[in-house]
Amino acid sequence: MSNFVQFPKDFQWGTATAAYQIEGAVNEDGRSPSIWDVFSHTPGKVANGDTGDIACDHYHLWREDVDLIKKLGIKNYRFSLAWPRILPEGKGKVNQKGLDFYNQIIDALLKADITPMITLYHWDLPASLAGGWVNRSVVNAFAEFSDVASKAFGDRVKSWVTINEPFCPSIVSYKMGRHAPGEINHTKALIAAHHLLLAHGRAVPIIKENVKDAKVGICVNLGPVYTKERTYENLEAVRHAEGELWRWFLDPIYGRHYPADMLADFVKMGVLDSTEPEFVRNGDFEEMSTPTDFLAINYYTRNTVIASGNQKSDPSSMIFIPAPKEIQTEMGWEVYPEGLYETLARVHWDYRPGDIIITENGASYSDGPGISGKVNDIKRIEYLHGHLLAVAKAIQAGVPVSGYYLWSLMDNFEWGFGYDQRFGIVYVDFKTQKRYPKDSAYWYQKVIQSNGLSDV
Ligand code: FCB
Repeated sequence: MSNFVQFPKDFQWGTATAAYQIEGAVNEDGRSPSIWDVFSHTPGKVANGDTGDIACDHYHLWREDVDLIKKLGIKNYRFSLAWPRILPEGKGKVNQKGLDFYNQIIDALLKADITPMITLYHWDLPASLAGGWVNRSVVNAFAEFSDVASKAFGDRVKSWVTINEPFCPSIVSYKMGRHAPGEINHTKALIAAHHLLLAHGRAVPIIKENVKDAKVGICVNLGPVYTKERTYENLEAVRHAEGELWRWFLDPIYGRHYPADMLADFVKMGVLDSTEPEFVRNGDFEEMSTPTDFLAINYYTRNTVIASGNQKSDPSSMIFIPAPKEIQTEMGWEVYPEGLYETLARVHWDYRPGDIIITENGASYSDGPGISGKVNDIKRIEYLHGHLLAVAKAIQAGVPVSGYYLWSLMDNFEWGFGYDQRFGIVYVDFKTQKRYPKDSAYWYQKVIQSNGLSDV
């Protein structure tokens, strides 16, 4: 027997995108290059040499895309602002054409009864800001950008995310070297993380001052870390992996400074000279933990790790164990809906952030249109179904989740994977720029209409 699982009244159903992944038009109307333009144009950095030069050509097709959101009955839309369109030098002179572009979109969304949510920083840092996130002066530049944007759009946009996944422009960019600027230097990864958290904390009061009824939060990517056999070494590996993904970011946001065990690990690994790193200045932790209105969470998968040999001298040495192929998406990420429930529950009882919004969740499967134009993406529907039931379960358990934004509205430039990985509920033919709503889009439309879904 099946039951219908109802979501709370006023639950925000949405979908999400990010500027560099969809806009294209990288040289138009005064936009300057971002670090992702530089990175994607560096041979060998992105799969197939793909770049965001054209992407979904949303810069020209935004009217059509807003219509599509409306037609699909999606009530909330999260998008990001391209900082290099608005402040081509990173700070200083404002480019009115950049503001105009977003003004048009915001007006069209409101006219279509769609509530906008803005992400200020989704990784496209102006390349002109020398030293990027490693240079502390970027914090002031971000404050300026937040001020300009919230003054320009705050009369109509009330929902603001400061930074998308600070883990990525720090750890993925500088420890792993897989994201722009793609330098490998673990110490710089921690410095970048520090400045990202500080930039967030500095922006919150600026946005609130400009937009009296704004709701402001930061977005973190989370997922539980599992192991195989619960040996001492394996549990140490889990501790370090979760320390890096969860606690290094959430602890300072919620007033706990950096975790002592992680500081000790970094000293042992030679990444930091001392457990009181030089890049931390008086007052930084107070600023980072400025109270927010919600925590935004992006969830895709869990990770399973086991310790590898030299863990005593290097607590970060561990091996990631992939899930069996049948339960992976095309990204190689395990489909594990229970991990979303666990993540929501843990964040709630450990950090008590108040309101939680899921700002990304979705899956990469490459199904494309048949002759009829129909896209049968049953695996995506199954993925979404499982994850929405996990959200409902968390809500029933008392976790205050007020919204869900599906990643993504349409297939787009998937960072280091280029156009190979398709996360959209709308298929994009990148040669013709034609959009084809997938079966999952119609399925999601029904979920939104009925404010819930069947549990089977
Ligand atoms: C997240 C990013 C988003 C998209 C998804 C698949 O980490 O925030 O832009 O790439 O992953």
